Amino acid sequence: MTVPSNLIDGRAIAEQLHQETAQRVAALKSRGFAPGLAFVRVGEDPASKVYVGMKEKTCARLGFLSATQVLPATTTEAELLALLHRLNADPQWHGILVQAPLPRHISSSRVFATVLPSKDVDGFHPENVGKLMLGDPSGFVPCTPGGVQELLIRSGVKTDGAEVVVLGRGDIVGKPMTSILCQKGEHANATVTLCHSRTRNISEHCRRADVVIAAMGVAEFLKADMVKPGAVIIDVGVNRVPSPGSRDGTRLVGDVDFARVQPIAGLITPNPGGVGPMTIAMLMRNTVRAAEMATGQ
Ligand code: GUN
Repeated sequence: MTVPSNLIDGRAIAEQLHQETAQRVAALKSRGFAPGLAFVRVGEDPASKVYVGMKEKTCARLGFLSATQVLPATTTEAELLALLHRLNADPQWHGILVQAPLPRHISSSRVFATVLPSKDVDGFHPENVGKLMLGDPSGFVPCTPGGVQELLIRSGVKTDGAEVVVLGRGDIVGKPMTSILCQKGEHANATVTLCHSRTRNISEHCRRADVVIAAMGVAEFLKADMVKPGAVIIDVGVNRVPSPGSRDGTRLVGDVDFARVQPIAGLITPNPGGVGPMTIAMLMRNTVRAAEMATGQ
């Protein structure tokens, strides 16, 4: 007898989204348009190189036009903003993505506010952040928290009235995740607690939760004794830790102590293969939508 798995297969769910996106790309192409996504990468951060490379490959697979502008780490903020103004004005680009993190001398908030809201497929522009907070669906939702919501929906997890704990208050995941799940409406309606480095008694908050979304960037932070049996565990973390004996002496782990939490969780995302593929799938979905809106569909 096989024991049913409690793993949420992010790769398979992302693939469903890609199929849906591919159909929308085909419809656009039949009208003579291809969705276009411009990437901007500043400096040589190794993780950013990998992420942008994966996103470019997915663009090629789904028939998007894409190009990456790679700027040196010494680029000034003014130079980067000037590039963004050119990309904003170029109708072949329906989406623009500036990969974070940026070098410290560049203000991320000024950069994200310079991308046109209608091309902001990352959902980082203040106008889109505000729309998300207000529950206005005309904006773009950030890809990682949007992908987590989609994972919950497609895994049959009901958030209505549920206790959800979000670990981490970052602008890319924690804060927008909270906004998404506290909205009045279907696939939200949760009681959301946002915990962070200054939260007292984090374990107590976590133990009450029906769903824990770990996005604080601390390797294997969420331990088994912090989890209510049967809870749904979503691991957004990507942390590089020392690993003597591995090829480069390091390995990647999430924010969840997976080996010990998995046996007591109701459902849990593997890492890798959980949230990561969903981030890319949501980026593609946001971009095809930007293209549809720009071309009057
Ligand atoms: N760095 C980490 N996550 C993201 C993301 O979703 N978008 C961008 N632009 N940069 C990131």
